[in-house]
Amino acid sequence: MTTKDELLHKIERRQATVSVVGLGYVGLPLAVAFAQAGFPTIGLDVDTAKVEAVNRGDSYIEDIPSGLLAEVVSGGRLRATADYDVLHEADAVLICVPTPLSKTKDPDVSYILMAGQAIGRRLHAGMVIVLESTTYPGTTEELLLPLLLDEHARHHGGATLAVGSDFFLAFSPERIDPGREDYTLHNTPKVVGGMTPGCLHVAQALYGTIVERLVPVSSPRTAEMVKLLENLFRTVNIALINEMAIMCDRLGIDVWEVIEAAKTKPFGYMPFYPGPGLGGHCLPVDPQYLAWKMRALNYNARFVHLAAEINFQMPAYVAAKVADALNEEGKPVKGAHILLLGVAYKPDVGDTRESPALEIARLLMAKGAHLSYHDPHVPSLELDGHPLRSAELTEATLADADCTVIVTDHTWYDWTWVVRHARLIVDTRNACRHVRAPGARIVKL
Ligand SMILES: NC(=O)c1ccc[n+]([C@@H]2O[C@H](COP(=O)([O-])OP(=O)(O)OC[C@H]3O[C@@H](n4cnc5c(N)ncnc54)[C@H](O)[C@@H]3O)[C@@H](O)[C@H]2O)c1
Repeated sequence: MTTKDELLHKIERRQATVSVVGLGYVGLPLAVAFAQAGFPTIGLDVDTAKVEAVNRGDSYIEDIPSGLLAEVVSGGRLRATADYDVLHEADAVLICVPTPLSKTKDPDVSYILMAGQAIGRRLHAGMVIVLESTTYPGTTEELLLPLLLDEHARHHGGATLAVGSDFFLAFSPERIDPGREDYTLHNTPKVVGGMTPGCLHVAQALYGTIVERLVPVSSPRTAEMVKLLENLFRTVNIALINEMAIMCDRLGIDVWEVIEAAKTKPFGYMPFYPGPGLGGHCLPVDPQYLAWKMRALNYNARFVHLAAEINFQMPAYVAAKVADALNEEGKPVKGAHILLLGVAYKPDVGDTRESPALEIARLLMAKGAHLSYHDPHVPSLELDGHPLRSAELTEATLADADCTVIVTDHTWYDWTWVVRHARLIVDTRNACRHVRAPGARIVKL
């Protein structure tokens, strides 16, 4: 039996030990899915607080209920550790570490490098490694593979392993959409690209145990580009509709009415909606990975830059709308009480990474506003070193605010109630579209 056949056999019998490196929004659901599918699963994270929480069965990711986590942990199918030596026993290693930007907006692949080095030292025959972190095309082949081979050779007296026969390497982008219930890990098709046909075969066999439909592509770099296309498509269309909102405002047209009418076209149109700006770990970040790679090839990724320029100016546009709305009431921003509703970057999650609410808050505070916020999913927040706590949302909180800014339209909110008690609203999401309140002061984006 070849090494590959042995590994396939272990996968088929759910005897392969699966290790997930990085237990965040992507890694924890993935680890739970493999544990649920019956694999002995080990989560690896450098953050010991997360390791302890997992081992207590205490979930910190909203899509994973603690009950479910506790069930797989107490059943002995999932455990977490910060000790990379567990990889000596691992058959599959799935890398889900962060891929942020550096201060100069270049890719920061240091987490992949750290993880790759640690895995390379423990690389052994019969291992399949899959990178899931979003990154630039070429990372798996040009960065991860040589790193794994070098580290393995350095720690094994120069011995080499062959990719595709001794061990297997692939890239498979995560498509998880936190907070979403209709499309989950199980029913969202998963793209996979292997370094060799054998690598693809093994990776497909592994993911086939937890995902209904796999989409094989010809190489890791193709799979890496698929993820970037998906995210750039959204970024560009959001930028387009944000610019439409700005143009409609100048023309005295309601952009929301335009979108509602346009989306009745049964073909060739897909609705996107304007908003206060891009947030989260993906859309503001991922296209920059592509732009960086293309710069190295003397190509200027123009759509990436234009979309970023438009999307990143939206918080300032919202802050200006707030100032104009207050001005209409004869009030300056300085000294005004401004309440932000929702600070997470999107509805029904508690994730504030890159959230436009933070920039809106900064801009208004810089103009002297007394700022407070409410978010049912974000009890506290640190803004440039200042701790903020979510205010209690009462009739009085709304009535006391000179302006209430709807930044994130969590389903938790009762907009009719908000409109009834707020004095002036700037609604960046058209959240109040169904509220019938003729006298209410609501300024839309
Ligand atoms: N969050 C999403 O919705 C989403 C969706 C698709 C793809 N992605 C991509 O998936 C990757 C992970 O994103 P995330 O949102 O899960 O990030 P996250 O920050 O929530 O989780 C990453 C985890 O990795 C851990 N970590 C960092 N370095 C490590 C190391 N060397 N060894 C072990 N653990 C380490 C961190 O402590 C953290 O717990 C990123 O590339 C992201 O772009 C994210």
